[in-house]
Amino acid sequence: MGAKGRGIGHDGRSGLIEERVVSAIEQMIKQLDGLKGRQKEYSEHVHRLNMIEGWWWASTEFQPRPDQPTHPQSPAIPFIWKWADVGPLVYEMGDPALGVGLGQGAKKAERRVLVLRNPGLGGQYAVTNTFFGDLQLVKKGEIAPSHRHTTTAARFIFDGKGGWTTVEGERAQLAPGDLVINQQLGWHDHGNDGPDDFVFFDVLDIPLLTSLATATWDFDYVKLTGDKDKTAQDLEFPLNHSNNLYQAGGIVPKFVGGSRPDHSPMLSYRWEIVRDTLQRLRKEAGSPYDGIIVEFTNPATGGPVGPTMSICAQLLRPGEKTLAHRHNTNTIYIGAEGKGYTTVGDKRIDWTQWDIYAVPSWHWHEHGNDSTQDAIVYSVSDGPVIEKLGLYCEHRKTRDGKTEFLGWKANRLVSK
Ligand SMILES: [Fe+2]
Ligand SMILES: [Fe+2]
Repeated sequence: MGAKGRGIGHDGRSGLIEERVVSAIEQMIKQLDGLKGRQKEYSEHVHRLNMIEGWWWASTEFQPRPDQPTHPQSPAIPFIWKWADVGPLVYEMGDPALGVGLGQGAKKAERRVLVLRNPGLGGQYAVTNTFFGDLQLVKKGEIAPSHRHTTTAARFIFDGKGGWTTVEGERAQLAPGDLVINQQLGWHDHGNDGPDDFVFFDVLDIPLLTSLATATWDFDYVKLTGDKDKTAQDLEFPLNHSNNLYQAGGIVPKFVGGSRPDHSPMLSYRWEIVRDTLQRLRKEAGSPYDGIIVEFTNPATGGPVGPTMSICAQLLRPGEKTLAHRHNTNTIYIGAEGKGYTTVGDKRIDWTQWDIYAVPSWHWHEHGNDSTQDAIVYSVSDGPVIEKLGLYCEHRKTRDGKTEFLGWKANRLVSK
């Protein structure tokens, strides 16, 4: 008894869906090979109707449900992409003979990226459960054509003096170490007026929005312009407009409005300002778990830069070593200056500038710097989502070796 004739249509697309349903059933049935007699018959019948026993016994063994872990769990693994390994391949993809990207002619910079895939995620285009990451190259004189999406993007500039991004009519001129926030559905294009290659790392909340079936793209910028060769937006604001408006911390203009309330209205955050801020704070005790850590915020609200991302920079001073903690948020780290390390479980991840590494949910981790120079690392976490769900929790080691819990326990908030 197959799925045929059970309400699934017979046009081309539905035919594909039908094939997928049948093959999923066949796969489930195959897994029943160890069963015998009436249990096998019963299970087969259940599976053919696209169901499964919630809890069940296979001969003498109880089968736990894969969707009910007893602690936060991610199939993603702690993993590092070393810039020394991947950097040369990023520059090399500029060779048209390699066929990386999509566009032709004036659009040849279109989607020329290398996508990072966490080895624990089975080939998904994902660095963690919730975040996608790619490395993009825009060569001298090129423009990566305008498009938009429901996903939020953060970009960390790695190389190039003449690179820019335009989002919704505002252009930010960018330099290495700068951060760009691309709000949901903002049209954006990237260009390079400089002599060198323009390279940046994108982080987007694609896997999260895909799980909600709400990640969509719009590549059809032509429909706005009516001109197939017009790939970049006209500028509607002065260069670096939102930096002029919002860059002075604690002082915000009272005469502007209209941006998405849950996204930062500031398009770019400057490396020299981040670095200066961290330096000014270097004599503070800082966080026992993160050293001197600062968050990039929405200057109008004080909230995170977007609804799904918290982005931080942290300074680890020479010889500094933090205490260990673990939390149910997923984090991508990006080395920005110097050399440091993060020990995740029993694995030490040594990082240097532009190395990218993933620390998935609920892994114990601690940071350190055993060099004689400062180490600065960026991070992107999905904390705002977990916090909106009211589910953030954390285990922390104390200086005297105890473990504290922060979060929800028996429906009461435990805070230390
Ligand atoms: Fe994009
Ligand atoms: Fe942490």
